[in-house]
Amino acid sequence: MCGIVGYIGKRDAVPILMEGLQRLEYRGYDSAGAAVVSGGKLAIRKKLGKLRELRNSLEETPLPGGLGIGHTRWATHGQPSEINSHPHADCSGDLCLVHNGIIENYQELKKQLQAEGHDFKSQTDTEIVAHLVEKYYKGDLFAAVQRALLDCEGAYALGVVHKDEPGVLVAARCGSPLIIGVGEGEQFIASDVPAILKQTREVIYLNDGEVAKLTSEGVIVTDLKGNVADKEQVHIDWDAEAAEKAGYPHFMLKEINEQPRVIRDTLRGRIAKSGDNVVLDDMNISDEELKGIEKIIIISCGTAWHAGIVGKYMLEEHTRIPVEVDIASEFRYRNPILVPGKHLVMSVTQSGETADTLASIREAQRQGVKVVSIVNVVGSTIARESDGVIYTQAGPEIGVASTKAYTSQVTAFYLFTIYMGRLNGTISSEKAAKLLAELQTVPGMIEEILKDQDVILECAEAYKEAVSALFLGRSYNFPSALEGALKLKEISYIHAEGYGAGEMKHGPIALVDDKLPVICVAVKSAVYDKMVSNIQEIRARAGKVIAVATRGDEDIHRHADHVISIPQISEMFSPLLVAVPLQLFSYHMAIARGCDVDQPRNLAKSVTVE
Ligand code: G6P
Repeated sequence: MCGIVGYIGKRDAVPILMEGLQRLEYRGYDSAGAAVVSGGKLAIRKKLGKLRELRNSLEETPLPGGLGIGHTRWATHGQPSEINSHPHADCSGDLCLVHNGIIENYQELKKQLQAEGHDFKSQTDTEIVAHLVEKYYKGDLFAAVQRALLDCEGAYALGVVHKDEPGVLVAARCGSPLIIGVGEGEQFIASDVPAILKQTREVIYLNDGEVAKLTSEGVIVTDLKGNVADKEQVHIDWDAEAAEKAGYPHFMLKEINEQPRVIRDTLRGRIAKSGDNVVLDDMNISDEELKGIEKIIIISCGTAWHAGIVGKYMLEEHTRIPVEVDIASEFRYRNPILVPGKHLVMSVTQSGETADTLASIREAQRQGVKVVSIVNVVGSTIARESDGVIYTQAGPEIGVASTKAYTSQVTAFYLFTIYMGRLNGTISSEKAAKLLAELQTVPGMIEEILKDQDVILECAEAYKEAVSALFLGRSYNFPSALEGALKLKEISYIHAEGYGAGEMKHGPIALVDDKLPVICVAVKSAVYDKMVSNIQEIRARAGKVIAVATRGDEDIHRHADHVISIPQISEMFSPLLVAVPLQLFSYHMAIARGCDVDQPRNLAKSVTVE
């Protein structure tokens, strides 16, 4: 995982690198480093720990110069340590590079390079690239990087500098994200857009197998053989402020609060003027092809997988198309049955860069199956490689625990469900109009939920010492239970399990005692009575029940220790409302326990390696 940045121009590189790295810290944060070329010298500074360690060191002893690269690391090969952090240099110390990805044949290459006399300092796969470039360097860094990469297998985004070429920054990409920012007399590289938004809005997306030579005058992009590629410059509209905390103490809280807007934005422009259909612009799959679909396979990871399960419930109910939901890391290695023309693969991903999800859609396409992806990051690899895209319009999500991306993904599924249902005739015009009208009431309801957090705060205080928690739900809110448990695990480090409430008797009930908080999603729905029975079974064993229930349900108070009320809505749409108190519960629990909400230990926002 890791984030990389680079700068070439007339300004001092370090402040620009640090600003960019701060925006990329969500990609990983066990160590950080930077290198600057100036006056015929290459200076490297690395620090273990969070970015502030590097910042303090650079403030104490600055590294001036107008060419630099920077890196924030999330270890894949080699322990987090100063030696293993980037930039990595060659034997001579004349050149160095930053890398995001994994060089899969590094052991073989390392042996070869060692036999040729190269001396390695770290345990990383990255360092071999520096030595390979050294091996092929004959006074032209751009050419040496092109040649070196012909020997490498695996994934990389790279930024490379050489002390004898103060006017050149070389970048390359294969499998890991990398963009080039184009400025006036200066250029930038970064793992993603927010890192350079303050500097420029003009961007070039590198494709896999491309290498770029950046000078203060311009950018040349070629393939590994040196053939020049014709690249398009894209203007980015994102508001730089969108990536800031906007006055909230944490990105996660800010992002939870953004959900009403995000859902409105995801719906914007997608409801036909007639109000009874959905308009999806970036589909690139004909209606005829979609009508022929007999099965949908949804693939994703983490929170996006939970959104996929909600998608399955609604697609099956309303379009009567059978849906399978798979974790991408399982799908890609299990020899899935895919039938071109009859099956549709859908991937769900906030970043659009998750390695397993990307590999899965590539496998589906290799087998001739079309892919529609629900993606947040515009221009990300999955967005570009999918046949059709439904963008979620959540804006940059910085908090590692996904919140607004999840609800926007579920919203995108409603749109797709109605679109498919109208196409195959399972959703009438009247029904579509009714569903879309109700969907549009969701943002206002979330605003109401956000206004009153008293019971959630009371629960966080009461259960902050818990060592374990159970989340139960049924039907559409089974995935809500999974997602609630994941959020709690991620940011408060409390062991939590999400279960379909009907499965409770098959194991989890053995865990119930007077110390165990059990969060039960018991909103008014077809499975309400079943949920109440489960709640009674928990109470009978002294478990502590926190019920998420429909406002006005007085009866539930008799069964639960705490009741978090949400507005009345159809069961189908209730996961959007239920998500919010569960996110807030995790947030307040984490705060009560003194945890680092935005950067939980061991996690990274974007998992671009297996
Ligand atoms: C990581 C993140 C999760 C996210 C998952 C999938 O684990 O911490 O929040 O749900 O990756 O990421 P994607 O970008 O594909 O949605």
